[in-house]
Amino acid sequence: MALKTIMTALAATLGLAMAGGMALAADISSSAATAGGKALVARQAHFKDQGAAFKAINDELRKDAPDKAAIIANTATLKSNGEALPTWFPKGSGPETGLKTAAKPEVWTDAAGFEAAANRFQVETARLADIASAGDMDALKAQVRATGGACKNCHDSYRGPDPH
Ligand code: HEC
Repeated sequence: MALKTIMTALAATLGLAMAGGMALAADISSSAATAGGKALVARQAHFKDQGAAFKAINDELRKDAPDKAAIIANTATLKSNGEALPTWFPKGSGPETGLKTAAKPEVWTDAAGFEAAANRFQVETARLADIASAGDMDALKAQVRATGGACKNCHDSYRGPDPH
């Protein structure tokens, strides 16, 4: 084969590989643009906020003089997240989006169990917000633990390993 023919063949192969890569990138960005993909991306952002709010409460409680206003604000975030959480998982926002997700298929195949886990979280976060407003720090610490238990209870059954 003449060198020129080889170079032409190589260029064609590389071109195809690049086109393939670009098609894949286009697939992923178009998945994120579907209703399911948008819900997935929004959900993961909500959970990051959730993690940050929970951490902020724990950080305050470790201080000698916890900032009560900050605690109250973060418990309010967790309570309103708890109310909204069931709406973060519309059908079609799981692994079938083609996007990375830690949500297990059981969120949808065991909808009753998932709803129970969400309800438990709503109960604990509503209590948490009430206790934070009342200002009893010892009761609050106990309720933070109960809330963490409700996070874990759901994660144990409905969240897989971090895909990121
Ligand atoms: C009713 C179920 C449920 C409850 C309650 C719950 N989570 Fe999650 N959490 C999930 C699922 C499912 C995912 C995976 C979402 C995904 O990847 O699409 C997740 C993901 C996360 C993530 C990773 C977000 C990311 O993509 O980087 C964090 C952080 C997190 N949860 C924190 C918490 C904390 C803190 C609490 C309690 C204060 C909590 N969660 C309560 C189900 C729950």
